Amino acid sequence: MATPSGKKSSPSRSRLPRVAIAIMAAGKGTRLKSRHPKVLHEVGGKTILAHVITTATKVVPAKDIFVIIGHEADRVRAAVASSGVQFVLQAEQRGTGHALMVAQEALAPYDHVIVLSGDAPLITPESVLKLSAFHSSQNAAMTLLSADLDDPSGYGRVIRKSAKGSEVRAIVEEKAASPQQKRIREINSGFYAFSVPALYGHIGALSTDNAHREYYLTDMAAVFQRARKKVAAMKTPVPAEVLGTNRRSEIVDLDGRMRLAKCHQLMEEGVTIFYPETCVIDSDVAIGVDTVIEPFVQLRGTTKIGSDCSIGSYSVINNTEIGDGVVVLPGCIMDDARIALNATVGPYSRLRPGTDIGEGAHLGNFVETKKLKMGKGSKANHLTYLGDTEIGEGVNVGAGTITCNYDGAHKHKTIIEDGVFVGSDSTLVAPVRIGKGAYIAAASCITEDVPADSLALGRARQTLKEGWARQKRTARKS
Ligand code: UD1
Ligand code: CA
Repeated sequence: MATPSGKKSSPSRSRLPRVAIAIMAAGKGTRLKSRHPKVLHEVGGKTILAHVITTATKVVPAKDIFVIIGHEADRVRAAVASSGVQFVLQAEQRGTGHALMVAQEALAPYDHVIVLSGDAPLITPESVLKLSAFHSSQNAAMTLLSADLDDPSGYGRVIRKSAKGSEVRAIVEEKAASPQQKRIREINSGFYAFSVPALYGHIGALSTDNAHREYYLTDMAAVFQRARKKVAAMKTPVPAEVLGTNRRSEIVDLDGRMRLAKCHQLMEEGVTIFYPETCVIDSDVAIGVDTVIEPFVQLRGTTKIGSDCSIGSYSVINNTEIGDGVVVLPGCIMDDARIALNATVGPYSRLRPGTDIGEGAHLGNFVETKKLKMGKGSKANHLTYLGDTEIGEGVNVGAGTITCNYDGAHKHKTIIEDGVFVGSDSTLVAPVRIGKGAYIAAASCITEDVPADSLALGRARQTLKEGWARQKRTARKS
């Protein structure tokens, strides 16, 4: 039987059965009323299909995984091709049974095939392995994974041969079910294991004599029953893992379940998350111990956060790497940025791609950055734009400083060397370099390089008109 990839199965004399996984992902997803293929909708920050593929690759190598694509095949293929899986084209989508018909040539070299639904992302590798092992132990032609659901509506129902045994007589789709059958709470998950020779020895017996005029894979149960071949069901102890995404409300429900599960996993690992039901954390996010996440935080993509950090409410942090001991105050937006240890950011800072904040540095409120490299201990605390800029260590950037990096056609660089003091409300017109230890007087417009240790004043001298205001007031009265 299949073993999780990574663990090598010990060589035995009798040949190990060859196991493939087929993932059905060719359908349109009509019930979503979407312009995009169902399997490319996202839950937990990843496409539904990507979750299923991740599970599959933990059971068999990618070369033995066949994704059956059809509706918007090119888009679906492009979205998941990097996983290294194989593809089978189901040009016309004539049902789940038809999906397996078109995969016959690809699956012929295998002994067993595990069939997964590309629209049910919560299934775990452990359950797939259990299904596979149960299938072998039963010597069945077909084994399906079933679940008892409180609300089974919309799913196919499992008709058992007897109340006690594991054998199945048929699967009845909701539309064809009698009122009595509709009361059955044991549903067909859409995950199966088949003996490949048995499947293709009998798949020709499927017909389209049903509500949708499609070939239903579920009808293989009755087909095998008639051919006196064994059909078994294995009931999962975790019914939630089989839930599908036929409707928008189901996508949102699954997304919520995944996010909450992620929060609980992180809490198990030593992260404090207040009001976890308000936080959105993608599945690939990593967080170190003793970090505190305040309510209403979103951590997306491949974001990595160190230990002993605190992430303030209403922050949305995407693909960003944050070192240990960093304080992110509320309302920060970050994309593709890096923050070194013990730095402080926010409230309301916006870090755009290419921002790299040094150890112990401070970015304050209403500071926007893009392609900024800021050295150790430097500060830009208020109302500032720093783009295409390199800042050394121990620099103080005054309130309202703007780097003018764009001349209407090209972007230019600003370089601010170690220990510089930039007075408030200065504009630095790039390309420009401020030498080590220099001072920029407040409200300067700096258009030329400033040598080290000098003072640059780039503004008009103040004029004073004594008594001017008094005269104006007297003139008004008379
Ligand atoms: C299917 C089962 C139902 C089960 C449910 C579990 C059938 C007839 N019914 O119903 O018993 O309870 O799953 O979620 O199988 N697909 C193709 N090619 C096609 C048609 C569908 O690849 O021609 C793919 C879809 O993209 C989808 C999967 O197969 O990923 C299941 O199809 P879907 O239409 O969602 O089946 P359900 O109505 O949910
Ligand atoms: Ca479905």
